[in-house]
Amino acid sequence: MNKMLNVALPKGRLGEKVYAMFAKAGFPCPSILEPNRKLIFENPEAGVRYFWVKPSDVPIYVERGVADIGVAGKDILLEYRPDVYELLDLDIGKCRMAVAAPKGFYDDPRRTLRVATKFSNIARGYYASLGRDIDIIHLNGSIEIAPIMGLSDVIVDIVETGTTLKENDLEVIATVVPISARLIANKASFKFKNEQIEQIAKSIATGTEAKA
Ligand code: PRP
Repeated sequence: MNKMLNVALPKGRLGEKVYAMFAKAGFPCPSILEPNRKLIFENPEAGVRYFWVKPSDVPIYVERGVADIGVAGKDILLEYRPDVYELLDLDIGKCRMAVAAPKGFYDDPRRTLRVATKFSNIARGYYASLGRDIDIIHLNGSIEIAPIMGLSDVIVDIVETGTTLKENDLEVIATVVPISARLIANKASFKFKNEQIEQIAKSIATGTEAKA
């Protein structure tokens, strides 16, 4: 008998795409598609239990072993550096981490640059690599407002279509790193449920159904 595999999915649009990949790989759980507010779903026949969590919390569940595997954005992995294995680039949820500023912004190197971001560690690392002095202003959302209102000079944030920047008269001035969704695994689970995890990773990678 297979042990049940616990999977943390990022709640939202990305999570729905991720679930579709798992279902296609032979680990369906149709009840997950019913319109309700439940957060935990299981399919004992397929040996899988899914739960929806806030995307930035996925690595916490996986690192602590409550989830054996999960899917998290590379942005979250770079920012929080959880002690997990990164198994696969799922090639979805693609975007980039970028520096953006009001159009025509001039970066005066004699002044400390004020950077607003949700991703303080990524921003710190990026500017350290450039040897640029910065002052981090950590925000939790709607980062684009900061330079418009004079709270910061620039922002470091996720850019997907570029619409949010455009509609707020901001523009990308540098790309920090490309981002996509990654399949991650708890280190102990990877050892003790290795066969199941390898099988699911392989099926997802090839887009084929797993053999029982
Ligand atoms: C993210 C990001 C940008 C936006 C970029 O915000 O912080 O605001 O998406 O997408 P675009 O380039 O396609 O316009 P999110 O919706 O995650 O909300 P947030 O304000 O909490 O960061």
